[in-house]
Amino acid sequence: MESFIKESNFFKGNNPEDIAAKYGTPVYVYNEDILRDRMRRVSRIITKYEFHSNYSIKANTNINILKIALSEGLYTDAMSIGEMRMLLDAGFPAEKIFFVSNNVSREEMQFAIDNNILVSIDSLSQLEQFGEINRGGKCAVRINPGVGAGHHEKVVTAGKKTKFAIAEEDIDKIFDIASKYDLTIAGINQHVGSLFMDPEPFLQAVKNFLRIAMKFKNLEFIDFGGGYGIPYHKLDDEQEFPMDSFKKDFELLIDEFVKDYGYAPLFKTEPGRYCVAESGVILGRVHATKQNSGVKYIGTDIGMNVLVRPSMYDSWHDIEFMRDNEIVKRENLTEQTVTGNICESGDILAKNRMLPAVKEGDLAIVLDAGAYGYAMASSYNTRPRPAEVLITSNGEVKCIRRAETYEDIMRLFDC
Ligand code: LLP
Repeated sequence: MESFIKESNFFKGNNPEDIAAKYGTPVYVYNEDILRDRMRRVSRIITKYEFHSNYSIKANTNINILKIALSEGLYTDAMSIGEMRMLLDAGFPAEKIFFVSNNVSREEMQFAIDNNILVSIDSLSQLEQFGEINRGGKCAVRINPGVGAGHHEKVVTAGKKTKFAIAEEDIDKIFDIASKYDLTIAGINQHVGSLFMDPEPFLQAVKNFLRIAMKFKNLEFIDFGGGYGIPYHKLDDEQEFPMDSFKKDFELLIDEFVKDYGYAPLFKTEPGRYCVAESGVILGRVHATKQNSGVKYIGTDIGMNVLVRPSMYDSWHDIEFMRDNEIVKRENLTEQTVTGNICESGDILAKNRMLPAVKEGDLAIVLDAGAYGYAMASSYNTRPRPAEVLITSNGEVKCIRRAETYEDIMRLFDC
């Protein structure tokens, strides 16, 4: 693909320079049509059985995006009191929120219990604590299906090396604790890891998980977790996650399970990235170009404070450039390294990337930044976090979060 921005008509006729002028750079820009399209796709992963897609909001917690998820009929999973509160404030009813906890305080569990939000418990020790504060209550337990997947070892959440979930060999202990506190185990959940493009390891985990599910009686639901990947190399024509063939294989595994289990519990999944990644880009400005020891650098204002994924996981994000209101053609490419403005050698957005000639003053447009972008941004180097704007379905540019200011940061010293 020559240009995602052009082919998707991302800005819907709005000039990115006007957005940059009004909101400054860097700025996160989302496209509502893409957002709604991906949210609709995940609602249909399973159609043969009762099914809920829980948008995993850690990928993007902007309250306006949560409201769009609500209007698309999605359910959600949350990871903290902050995320639960944000969902309640966005208008989600408690039954559409699932608290997938990990090493939480009793106060955090109590918050969920008080708000009628179902909790997933991820260790025997936390199950004991849950029982102590909520005898006779209901919860889910997170089980390790024994198989992990993901784009980087830091995001693999199942298999042998992980802090998450309860191992299969401890299942009897789950039943002991449940009976000690008269708890109902309403559901089981897993999450194998984040960003797989090949469905195979996930389907393998599903198979294991459904075998494990047979050990639990009267389950109300089974939640398979998230992790569906998106094509981060779209300018090199990387294909999308094969949702259609995946759906068929997934439903076949479920058919077999339902036959053996005797009935179909509610099935759930927890996509985060898939819902939001492709709907978001970052507009930034090229401020410098230089050559150091033979390496050509493009210096931008899109630092690791704005998008940490490349520094943290060596993640790839395609970048397009814009000059005089036109996308810079991808021709006469040379190897260049795109960096931010943060005082760290690891502040690299793209390393040794084949790119066209870029000049100071160009706009840089970082693609696929809607997931784990703003959500992981910081004010490192005392750079306030950027604004977020939405290109609405009718083509308006709407501010959905103002930029943080120096004064916002200073306010915290008022204690
Ligand atoms: N469910 C649970 C329990 C999770 O821990 C996660 C992600 C998800 C669902 C959603 O996974 P997704 O569909 O978004 O892959 N910061 C990393 C990703 C970390 C994911 C953490 N957990 C990144 O930028 O790639």
